[in-house]
Amino acid sequence: MQIKIARLSDPKPSEITPESTYWNRRQWLSGLGYTGAMLALTGSAASAQAQSPSPWEQLLQQKLASTAPDPDPIDETLTPYEDVIRYNNFYEFGTGKGDPVANSKRFKVEPWSVRIDGAVQKPFTLQLEDLIKPHALQERIYRFRCVEAWSMVVPWVGFPLAELISRCEPTASAKYLRFETLVDPQRFPAQGFGRSTIPWPYVEGLRMDEAQHPLSLMVVGVYGKVLPAQNGAPLRLMVPWKYGFKSIKSIVRISFLEQQPPTTWERLASQEYGFYANVNPEVDHPRWSQKRERRLPNSLFDPNWIPTRKFNGYENEVAHLYAGMNLRKLY
Ligand code: MTE
Repeated sequence: MQIKIARLSDPKPSEITPESTYWNRRQWLSGLGYTGAMLALTGSAASAQAQSPSPWEQLLQQKLASTAPDPDPIDETLTPYEDVIRYNNFYEFGTGKGDPVANSKRFKVEPWSVRIDGAVQKPFTLQLEDLIKPHALQERIYRFRCVEAWSMVVPWVGFPLAELISRCEPTASAKYLRFETLVDPQRFPAQGFGRSTIPWPYVEGLRMDEAQHPLSLMVVGVYGKVLPAQNGAPLRLMVPWKYGFKSIKSIVRISFLEQQPPTTWERLASQEYGFYANVNPEVDHPRWSQKRERRLPNSLFDPNWIPTRKFNGYENEVAHLYAGMNLRKLY
């Protein structure tokens, strides 16, 4: 993972959607009952698709229009939409922060399916529509902290991973979940011959109790809109108390396992990236101090450093999951 402090692709202040504009727009749209129609015009993943929306897009737009507000929103300034969708890590599109937005313009979500297998009553495959049909969407405003020591506050839209887990009917031997990203060089150019930087597929994992925690979210939208390709369309994970690399994007397979699965960054550099990857200001990464973070938006002259909080500020909610564990060793 690389880091660049100032980027040519940095949005100008005038391009940034202020938080107040977002909230006013939401209130206005929902007041008029137009949210679905407007989102159909503005959803960036959708706009890359064919003219007439597919059944999946229609269903997603409908669901987004009735997203429930975050029941317990954190009182922190949202990172502007333009930063959330332009400052990304998604190696399938390239290693630069601006590569995902630049190289995903022609990304097509469909066809897409998610395979559920391993320690479940019966393996099965979910097509996109079936994936979200039974779930009511919720907004969750989460702090999001990358191991590279930058952070954001993002209004994600999704549904609890616990709901999907119960649909999968895991057996008693299921102790871990393993997630896998699509491998398709047609859609992910940096997976093409001679261009790969890391082994594919990108793989992540969670312990079962972490996955069932109410904060663990399957994300399909952001800022009330369809999740853009560069942020992991059509489906990504969000685990807000862990470093961002755990939040795997563009998922096509979820396996229930008895053993802890090897994960991408842990396999590449286990002395730097652990399986747990809980945000922890007391344990530094060899290249990045984890004591503080640059809260986006920032600039070279105003880096906006803030102290990092244990479990990214979710200590009350999740510390019990790690009682008795040595978090210096199990980082
Ligand atoms: N998922 C896949 N498949 N490929 C990736 O390169 N990068 C991870 C994570 N999920 C990554 C991924 C890292 S390092 C981070 S910090 C977050 O995605 C970034 O999410 P964002 O671009 O939406 O901010």
